[in-house]
Amino acid sequence: MKIRAKITGVAAYVPDYILSNAELEKMVDTTDEWITTRTGIKQRHILKGEGLGTSHMAVEAVKELLQKTRTQAEEIDLIICATTTPDFVFPATANLIAHAIGAKNSFSYDVQAACSGFLYALSAGAQYIETGRYNKVLIIGADKMSSIVDYKDRTTCIIFGDGAGCVLLEPTEQEEGIIDFILQSDGIGQQHLYQKAGGSRRPPTIETVTNREHFVYQEGATVFKYAVTYMADTTYTLMKKHQLKAEDIAWLCTHQANKRIIEATAQRAGLPNEKVMITIDKYGNTTNATIPLNLRDYEKQLKKGDKILFATFGGGFTWGAMYAIWAYDGSKVS
Ligand code: UT7
Repeated sequence: MKIRAKITGVAAYVPDYILSNAELEKMVDTTDEWITTRTGIKQRHILKGEGLGTSHMAVEAVKELLQKTRTQAEEIDLIICATTTPDFVFPATANLIAHAIGAKNSFSYDVQAACSGFLYALSAGAQYIETGRYNKVLIIGADKMSSIVDYKDRTTCIIFGDGAGCVLLEPTEQEEGIIDFILQSDGIGQQHLYQKAGGSRRPPTIETVTNREHFVYQEGATVFKYAVTYMADTTYTLMKKHQLKAEDIAWLCTHQANKRIIEATAQRAGLPNEKVMITIDKYGNTTNATIPLNLRDYEKQLKKGDKILFATFGGGFTWGAMYAIWAYDGSKVS
């Protein structure tokens, strides 16, 4: 019997501080009305506190996950952390998380695929389970986007928020869990969405800092066009491959970059609004944390056997879709 990887628990963490649209109106030339109609965002959470990085939020989420799934940190075989805002250039944030939670028997590494990192990491984690090599794999998506957002740039600062989420993957021999995925990338996207300096091509200098080159640079309208086309096309292709009709699908769980992109994907898949997970209004775009934040917020409504489509698009460009059958009743989770 084929071994598949199933998600057996989800957890997430967002920091307390809420940056509302009203607050942003005082910081840059924008309005609540513009932000709401163009993106669907009402507020985002921001991590405050000296010396706190992405791993801080990830550790909080993982602690909750271990408690919910009654898992000991020593039982974890592997930790993969998807992040675009690691605590340090090196070592990997996953290493720091493993140390902080006491996952002494695991190895750990980061995945960098911008906003698509969580699905990339989930697909990688699933392979280690499917081969029979490991039994408990922790997949984390976490970002402190506020550390690379220019709060003087109205085109980007209204979009992003901070947060972390995680899932536990375990083996199953049933027809459930992660069934299939299509993941893609194309480096042509680099020029449209990236951080200009701070990497090995343009190491930090006084000049790069003065020129504000350590922040997110995005050509929003161009990225929007690619996102709508690629995310919707890939989701549709995956549905076709598995002969899935809209009525077969219980939920669409996508990356939360813009409500209009999510709606376009849902429309292409023929899915009504009530089947689409939306959390962008509360958290904004938390990059790698959007998908696990969705799962945490909708967990109570998820039922064993629910067919879920995941979809994502991010810098790189990176994009893809995943088809999974949910393996437990969320309403029974305490
Ligand atoms: O998560 C990874 C991938 N990222 C994405 O998927 C993001 C994709 N892009 C988007 O979501 C959208 O392009 C944005 C939300 C970033 C921007 O929305 P848009 O509808 O594409 O607006 P735009 O960039 O075409 O700008 C339209 C107008 C411009 O003014 P003019 O040139 O028409 O006079 C902007 O200057 O809106 C202006 N504008 C703003 N106005 C008020 C841009 N940002 C703001 C703002 N408040 N915050």
